[in-house]
Amino acid sequence: MSVIELLKKRISTRAFLDSPVEQDTVRALLDAARWSPSGGNVQPWKVIVVSGEARSEVTKRATAALARNPQGEAGDYPIYPEGLHEPYRSRRFQMGEDMYAIMGIAREDKAKRFQALARNFEFFGAPVGIFMVIDRAMGHGQWAHMGMFMQSLALAAEEMGLATCMQEAWAMVRDTLHEHFELPSNEMLYCGIALGCADREAPVNGLRTRRATVGEFADFRGFQRED
Ligand SMILES: Cc1cc2nc3c(=O)[nH]c(=O)nc-3n(C[C@H](O)[C@H](O)[C@H](O)COP(=O)(O)O)c2cc1C
Repeated sequence: MSVIELLKKRISTRAFLDSPVEQDTVRALLDAARWSPSGGNVQPWKVIVVSGEARSEVTKRATAALARNPQGEAGDYPIYPEGLHEPYRSRRFQMGEDMYAIMGIAREDKAKRFQALARNFEFFGAPVGIFMVIDRAMGHGQWAHMGMFMQSLALAAEEMGLATCMQEAWAMVRDTLHEHFELPSNEMLYCGIALGCADREAPVNGLRTRRATVGEFADFRGFQRED
């Protein structure tokens, strides 16, 4: 499959089969993703990969932390900026509406919505979880470069017939996991990635999110043809 085909095929998968993913497979994915570009070739990424018992332990700790504090651990790196304005606010809202609609969860059903959110902390059933870790000394540039790595990993997974879901929801238990993974104080957990085989029967995996058209976000200058 071409890169363009893979880009269009990749979606956030939120229901996985329990088929295992071997360590060698994850290594091969990381071995591909490490060729992602980064400014100055700094390669600001570090990962922690969990499977089996280690994966269950993370779920257990996250679930306990959220039971104590359902709002999550407010940190200095919020998942979204405060007061997200248009057009971003509506896009986020629409995505949530589309996702809950396909799952058959009503807008006012707070309990079911919370349950759906909580599935994040079970990696949506994926057998492998990858945590992206970054040095606190890194700036916004390096955070963007982490994104390059993550997308590379997702596309490589797609090529191998695997599926992913990026999971910034893990930021809600960032402190708990920092302690659990015994990370040094200069490092922080940014995001999780669920990795496994997609459950193609699950309605939630039928979600195809919308995108703004090229004309809405691109400003072409100096070309012959004026659109
Ligand atoms: C860095 C990052 C973090 C994300 N965190 C979550 C998350 O915690 N939980 C979740 O269900 N989806 C998460 N997503 C998935 C987005 O909602 C999804 O990428 C977006 O709606 C576009 O849909 P698509 O990935 O299916 O194309 C995240 C995506 C990215 C790139």
